Amino acid sequence: MSGSRLEMLASLIRDVPDFPQPGVVFKDITPLLASAKGFQASIDELVASAPADIDVVVGMEARGFIFAAPVALALGAGFVPVRKPGKLPGDVVSQGFDLEYGSTELNMHRDAIVSGARVLVVDDVLATGGTIGATARLLEQLGAELVHVSVLMELEFLGGRARLESLGIRNCSAVL
Ligand code: PRP
Repeated sequence: MSGSRLEMLASLIRDVPDFPQPGVVFKDITPLLASAKGFQASIDELVASAPADIDVVVGMEARGFIFAAPVALALGAGFVPVRKPGKLPGDVVSQGFDLEYGSTELNMHRDAIVSGARVLVVDDVLATGGTIGATARLLEQLGAELVHVSVLMELEFLGGRARLESLGIRNCSAVL
């Protein structure tokens, strides 16, 4: 990607100090989404990072949906949501993971992906890696092949990439 495009994308992400709690600098993507140029460029970059022959793009509730669905359309792939508990109506597979305080889980429909499907996971942010790690475990439960993980932004200081590597996930790219 050209340096100016990278700068344009970076300039559309707003740092919000002390949100959602004191000491945290929140990366707000709403200015990027509100910019037709910025949103299109972010989708183009995520699409460009995808390997060939992806069957399904998986995105995580909620911000992941915004990026994963257009990427799926651009790749001619299906879109499958990973949802927070209590949202999916059918039979689900579940995976718990730790948060800073406490724990939570993510769900997918058990019949959402056929065994052996080639999957691209798309999310807005890789922070601690908990969300993507749990998603990888869900895909394992379904017998799908996690081919690549593409995120818009990586918060390197939170060590998510190392966490993913410890889970055997090495194919991960970040636009910013
Ligand atoms: C955010 C973000 C990623 C995840 C990254 O989602 O959209 O999915 O956190 O953090 P991690 O690498 O530490 O897991 P969040 O759970 O805040 O939900 P939202 O998308 O509904 O805002």
